Amino acid sequence: MHWTTCDRPGHSLCVALLTRARPTPAQNARAKGPSTVGQKVVMAATGILLVLFLVAHMLGNLKVFAGASAFGEYAQWLRRLGDPVLPQTAYLWIQRVVLLLAVGGHIWAATALTLRARRARPVRYAHRRPVRGSYAARTMRWGGVIIVLFVIYHILDLTTGHLNPVADPANPYATVVADFAPGRWYVTLFYGLAVVAIGFHLRHGVYSALRTLGQQTSRGERRARAFALALSVLLCGGYLAVPFAVLTGVVR
Ligand code: HEM
Repeated sequence: MHWTTCDRPGHSLCVALLTRARPTPAQNARAKGPSTVGQKVVMAATGILLVLFLVAHMLGNLKVFAGASAFGEYAQWLRRLGDPVLPQTAYLWIQRVVLLLAVGGHIWAATALTLRARRARPVRYAHRRPVRGSYAARTMRWGGVIIVLFVIYHILDLTTGHLNPVADPANPYATVVADFAPGRWYVTLFYGLAVVAIGFHLRHGVYSALRTLGQQTSRGERRARAFALALSVLLCGGYLAVPFAVLTGVVR
C-alpha cells in the first residue's frame, strides 16, 4: 500500500486510491525495454518524418491552383518518381510503407511513454491542479485519434475513391473538386476540423520534438515555441486553402 498522497485516509476515495498496489517486480520487468529517452527519440524522429510528408503533400495539393492539367501531371509524376531505376508506382509504395511504419512507431512510443508515466505514479494525485502540460498531453491523445480516423476516411475518399462522387483516377483534379463542392459542405467542414486538429497536434508535437532533440535553454524554448506555431499555422493555411477555394468557387 502507498500512503503518501491521501491526506484524509478515512475518505472512501482515498481508501480506493490507497489500496491500489505498487507495481509488482514482474510489472517492473515488463516496464524495461527502450529507455524513456529512446522512446522520446522514436517519437520525435517518426514525428519529423510525418511532418516532412505533410509539407510535401501540402505543396503538391497547392498545384490545384495551377489548373487541372498541372494537377494531373503532378499526380502522374508521383507515380513515375524513381523511373527508370524503380518500376511505376514503386516510390508511392515505398512512401506508404515508410508512413505506415512511422505512424506505428509514433503510436507505440506515445503509448509506451504514457504507460511508463502511469507506472511511475500508480496512485493518482488526490487533488491535482490543472496543469498546462497535462492539458496538452490529453489534447495530443484525442488529436491523434481524430487524425488517424481522418486519414482512413481521406484514403477511402481520394486514394481508393470509395467515398468520392467522381473517383476518376485519370482525373484527380475533378475528384478533388467534386469532393469539396458546395453541396458537400459537410465534407469540407469535416476536413476543416481535422486540419485544425492536426494544427494543434503539430504545434505541441513539433515543440516537444525540438525540446527533446535541441537546446534546453530558455532561448531555445522560445525559439521552439515560435517555430512550432509558425509551422502549424503555415500547414493549416495550406491545407485549408484547397477545400475552401473549391467551396467558394475559386477553383472549379
Ligand atoms: C485538406 C486538404 C487535402 C487535400 C486536398 C488532399 C488531397 C489528396 C489527394 C488528391 C490524394 C490522392 C493522391 C494520389 O493518389 O495521387 C491524397 C492522398 C493522401 N493524403 Fe491527402 N489531402 C489533404 C489533406 C491531407 C492531410 C491533412 C493528410 C495527413 C494527415 C493527408 C494524407 C494523405 C495520405 C496518407 C494520402 C495517401 C497517399 C498515398 O496514396 O500513398 N492528406 N490527398
